[in-house]
Parts: sequence; C-alpha cells; structure tokens
Amino acid sequence: MLKKWMLISVSLILILVVLTGCGARSTDQNTDSSNTDKSEDVDTNTKDSEPATETLKKEEVIVIKFSHVVAEDTPKGQAANMFKELAEKYTDGRVEVEVFPNSQLYNDDDVLAAVQQNNVQLAAPSTSKVSKLFPQWTIFDFPFAFEDVASVQAAMESEEIGGKLFKMLTDQDLLGLAMWDNGFKQMTLDDHPLYMPEDFEGQQFRVMSSKVLEAQFESVDAVPTPMPFSEVYSALEQGVINGQENTLSNIYSKKFHEVQRYMTISNHGYLGYAVITNDKFWNGLPDNIREQLQKALNETTQWVRENGERLNQENLDKIIADDMLEEIHYLTNEQKQAWIDVMNVVYEEYEDEVGADLINAVKELRDN
Ligand code: LMR
Repeated sequence: MLKKWMLISVSLILILVVLTGCGARSTDQNTDSSNTDKSEDVDTNTKDSEPATETLKKEEVIVIKFSHVVAEDTPKGQAANMFKELAEKYTDGRVEVEVFPNSQLYNDDDVLAAVQQNNVQLAAPSTSKVSKLFPQWTIFDFPFAFEDVASVQAAMESEEIGGKLFKMLTDQDLLGLAMWDNGFKQMTLDDHPLYMPEDFEGQQFRVMSSKVLEAQFESVDAVPTPMPFSEVYSALEQGVINGQENTLSNIYSKKFHEVQRYMTISNHGYLGYAVITNDKFWNGLPDNIREQLQKALNETTQWVRENGERLNQENLDKIIADDMLEEIHYLTNEQKQAWIDVMNVVYEEYEDEVGADLINAVKELRDN
C-alpha cells in the first residue's frame, strides 16, 4: 500500500516538474543558450510573481542592478539615471534598470566581486579601484599625466591605452562597456593651505585603493590612508584623516568642504570610471536587447563626456557660494612645477608594475 502511494507521489512530482520547465522555456528570453550556468542569474535578473498569467508578463523583464557610490547629482549619478531612462525606453520596458547610488548596495571596493558573481550587472568604479584586480588600470592615477579632459578622453579611446585595459578584464569574467568622465581632482586639508610639496609633510590623506595614489602622497612625505568613499566624510569630521583628494562634484555632494578648511585647485590627477558588466550576463542577453542597451550606453557616455567638466565647474561655484572654506587657492605655475618635480618619482617606481608601454603612451599624449 505504502509503495503504491509513493509511486503515485513520485509520478505527480515528475509531472509538475515537466510542466514548470515548459513554462520557463516559453517565456524567459534572458536565459538563452550562452548562459549555461545561469540558473542563479535567471532568479536575480528576471522578475517572478504569481499567478501564472502575471508570471508570463513579468518574466520577460530583465532586471539590471547598477550599483555606485556617489550622489545622484554628480556626473556618474546623473549618467546612471540617464542610462536607466534610455535603456528602459529603447527596450520598450523589457529591461528594468535598478540604480543604487550612495554605496547603498556595495562599496566600489567590493562591487567588482559582486559583478563577477552576477549579483549586480553594472558598476562604474573609478579606474583607480579597478587597479586592485589589474594594476595596469592605475595608469590614470599618475600625477599630472593629463593636461586637460580632451587628453584623458583620447587615452580612454585609444587602442594602446583604453583598448588594452578593456581587453584584460575578460580574464576575470568582466567586460568593459564604456569609460565615463568625472573630472580633475583637487586637494583639501584641514590643517593649513597646500602651496608647496613640503606643505604635505606628515598630513594624513585618504586615497582610493591604488598603489600609485599611495606613492603620490608618499613622494611628498604625506601619509596615505586607503578608505572607501562612503567613510571619508566621517573620517574627516572625526580627524581620523585630515585631508583628501577628489573632484569638485564629489567634494560638494558629500559635503567634504564643510569639514575641511583649505582647498587647492591643483588638477593634479584625473578621476574617471570604467563601466563594467559580467561578460556571461552581457553576452547571454538576446542580441536585440544588447544592441539597444549599447545604444543607451553610447548616448550616456557622450552626455557625460560633454557635461562632466561643466558639472564640476558648477560645483565649484556652489562650494564658493557656501563659504565654508577658509581659503581656495589656485596653484600657480611655479607651485605646479614644484609638485611635478617631486611627484615625478612615481613614474619610475611603478614602471614595472604598470608597464612602460602604457606609461609611454600616456606621456606621448601629454607631450604632443
Ligand atoms: C572615490 O572613492 O573617491 C571615488 O571613486 C568616488 C567616485 O566613484 O567618484
């Protein structure tokens, strides 16, 4: 008797399994053939719900989680929102982009692992932070490597620099889709104004996770302290560090100028982003969806290229209007040369790690 019941139960379960499998195949476009190991991805990237008719509609929505660390009114914050709007429009709602700003989901330091595991599908960490996995990416961190935004963008576009950096990402299940601008970094300090290299001595500066940025501060006898972006404000407020470098939009939107007394407009380094996805996820998307997403991304990249500088300038105006800093100093040409003379040592120190070819390509851009 017992055996008979067991047989009936097993048969019923088998029938149910077969029926459920058919439903998933007929509705879910997100799980096409190249996503071989994506049983988990299907769950994260499509929306399930009851009852069955609802499920049919919602399973067609591909969810892209986009995690970043900055405020929404910054170049990256605005670009992420613009991408969401365009992506959803161009795919007629087949794709839903969920943007998580302000480190709500991940810090930039752990977001790459989250992309590798397909827990988020898009991230745009600063190029400095990509150097944790690929030291060559720290090429954008060399002090005074770029004269202006046009030369940074030329580097991002060039095969010898941007192309080469993108190629290596696939070794670790990542795919580079675009590079986005923020802008040039400025120095702030609480203790005293920064004019000459010796003014850095003994001061503790927060840095992003990049060996070259650490070396930059060591070259002027300062103490670099790597720290996630989300912790900088309270570390400055509590005096754990007394200075930092960042773009004007990051300084203003995170109120760093309210807990610092001096800012030097030095334009000594650039902060830009790599827009990165999981390569299996991206290549597993239906072709037409991927094309529309790429179109949305290209338009967003174009927008951020044209507007990053303007947004940073507007943030400088806001910092000035706030009148919280005791002094905003514009580095003179002589002071700039003094910084360059001392910081140049970083190029030699990191030539082996980053590669002479990349460094020479950047120098060539700068000198032409
Ligand atoms: C930082 O950590 O200072 C920046 O990477 C923040 C950002 O993403 O602009």
